[in-house]
Amino acid sequence: MTKILVLYHSSTDNTKQMAQFIAEGAGQLTGAEVRLRSIEEANHEDLDWCEGMALGSPTHYGCVSWQMKQWWDEQPIENWGMRDGKIGCVFSSAGAWGGGQEWTCMSLLSILINYGFLVFGLTDYTGERFSAHYGAIAAGPPEEDRPQQACRRLGLRLAEWTSTMIHGNPNSHPLNQNYERFQDLGE
Ligand SMILES: Cc1cc2nc3c(=O)[nH]c(=O)nc-3n(C[C@H](O)[C@H](O)[C@H](O)COP(=O)(O)O)c2cc1C
Repeated sequence: MTKILVLYHSSTDNTKQMAQFIAEGAGQLTGAEVRLRSIEEANHEDLDWCEGMALGSPTHYGCVSWQMKQWWDEQPIENWGMRDGKIGCVFSSAGAWGGGQEWTCMSLLSILINYGFLVFGLTDYTGERFSAHYGAIAAGPPEEDRPQQACRRLGLRLAEWTSTMIHGNPNSHPLNQNYERFQDLGE
C-alpha cells in the first residue's frame, strides 16, 4: 500500500474542503491508502505512518495559522531527522485571490523541508489559466471547478510520486500516465 496522509488545519472548513478533494485525488491511484486528518485528530504516529503527505493551512496574514505552527513546534524533538525521505506537498485557502496563498504554501514547504520531506509542486495546468505550481490554492471554499481539479491532481500526484519514489514502482511515474498532464495553458 502507498500510505498517504492529508493533514490540515481549518477554522471555517475551507481548507478542510480542499483536503477532502486532495484525499479523493490520492485515492484514485490503485493501492493508495489515504488518511484524512485535522491537526486536532492527528499526532506523531500519523507522521510516522505516512509515506507521503499533503499539508494544508488557511492563510493567516500571509503565513501558516498559529495552530498549524504550534502543531509542528510540539512534535517530539527526538523524531526530528527520523522522518527523512517522505514525499510532501502543500495547499492553502485565503480569503481572496492574491491574498497570500502562495506565501503560505512556501511556509508550509519550509516546514516540510526542515522535517526531511522531499517536496514537489505541479507542472500541470489543471484549468484555464490555473496551476498549482507551489501547491493547491483556493479563495474561500473550493467551490469552482478549477481549484477542485487542482486539489484532486495534487493528491493524485502525491500518490504517484510516493509509489514511484518510496516503492520503486515505475508504472506510477507521472510521465507514464495516460491522462492529460498539460491542459489548457491559458494562451
Ligand atoms: C487571523 C486571520 C488572518 C487572515 N489573513 C488573511 C490573509 O492574509 N489573506 C487573505 O486573503 N485572507 C486572510 N484570512 C482569511 C482566511 O484565509 C480565509 O477565510 C480562509 O478561507 C479560511 O480558511 P479555513 O476555513 O480553512 O479556516 C485571514 C483570516 C484570519 C482568521
